[in-house]
Amino acid sequence: MKFFVDTAEIDAIAELNDLGMVDGVTTNPSLIKKSGRDIIEVTKEICDLVAGPVSAEVTAVDAETMIAEGRKLLEIAENITVKVPLTWDGLKACKTLSDDGHKVNVTLCFSANQALLAAKAGATFISPFIGRLDDINLDGMELIEDIRTVYDNYHFETEILAASIRSVNHILDSARIGADVITAPPAVIKAMVNHPLTDKGLDAFLKDIKAADIKIL
Ligand code: E4P
Repeated sequence: MKFFVDTAEIDAIAELNDLGMVDGVTTNPSLIKKSGRDIIEVTKEICDLVAGPVSAEVTAVDAETMIAEGRKLLEIAENITVKVPLTWDGLKACKTLSDDGHKVNVTLCFSANQALLAAKAGATFISPFIGRLDDINLDGMELIEDIRTVYDNYHFETEILAASIRSVNHILDSARIGADVITAPPAVIKAMVNHPLTDKGLDAFLKDIKAADIKIL
């Protein structure tokens, strides 16, 4: 499973990247706003840091302008993936850009039918939003399962990029189902290391190290 980091914060990306935890990065207009940086400038910095795909989202809602914005974003670096919303115009932009050989991430996916359309339009990644479905009492994980089934039935190569991840359980469940990629905030990825028995066990070992004066160096 690939790990993408869902942030535009350079320091947070760098910390995880140094540990080999970053296979790519996803950004969106809300994350760019949060960073307080210029979209082109911060996206270039991320692309210089990370070898894998970096998703940068268009701002237009009509296909023609989305394509023009996508082409401008693609000039930033070779590892840019153009992110477009799952609308009819977004699908048109996806088809044009993917036919031109570019990577496209179709975002704001909330149904398996939408995911099917994105795959047929040549999407490299489909981004189903788990957390936002859970927020309205629907089942985000069920959507990941449905898309996995549909894509496997017809051997679509579009990768399932489980997005809007809010908890470590979302990551584990995505891995169990076989999502190709998760994108999660740095804090959620870092929280995967936590286990109370690890902390308890380490405390006991530290007490014994002190009591027996065990030294290695
Ligand atoms: C990723 O591509 C999405 O933009 C992101 O995961 C959305 O997450 P949110 O629902 O927590 O804003």
